[in-house]
Amino acid sequence: MLKNAMTADFLRSAYGGESMAHMRYLIWGEAAEKDDFPNISRLFKAVAYAELVHAKNHFKVLKEQVGDNTVPAGAVFGITNIVDNLQGAINGELHEIDQMYPVYLETARFQGEKDAERSFHYAVEAEKKHAELFNKAKESAKEGKDLEKDNFYVCPICGYTEEKDAPEKCPICGAKKELFKEF
Ligand SMILES: [Fe+2]
Ligand SMILES: [Fe+2]
Repeated sequence: MLKNAMTADFLRSAYGGESMAHMRYLIWGEAAEKDDFPNISRLFKAVAYAELVHAKNHFKVLKEQVGDNTVPAGAVFGITNIVDNLQGAINGELHEIDQMYPVYLETARFQGEKDAERSFHYAVEAEKKHAELFNKAKESAKEGKDLEKDNFYVCPICGYTEEKDAPEKCPICGAKKELFKEF
């Protein structure tokens, strides 16, 4: 059970940010499909699912905090071209990796909120891989090329995202290979 208001606020904000990232990646995924980048579109859809996992994890830690809240959360806006959309995705991920989650994580740790700490830890570790995958996609899109037609695999527990094949064991949360969702 959550005891500290500040950790609860950070969970709500992170939930808001992840929810918007989920939606934004679905929208950018549709745009990529329309622009004839079907594999980059699948990357967007895979990572959108990972952000859903993060939003769900945060929401579940908040399950006993019943009631209405206004939630301030950072979000990137705009639908332009595929390269700029990918840059927007990278910027969002880097904000979470460098600014947002380290502070949220330290606060949860300081306040002894174990469930929140785990939820933030899963998210920040998964985002590092997202930034890497989006960066690779951006370099390819800059040359007018789609990614190779590899599948993406997402851990349904922590959102860790891998290309080509799912790992035997999730490097972040230890989930088994069979659990990974394929895109
Ligand atoms: Fe992410
Ligand atoms: Fe995992």
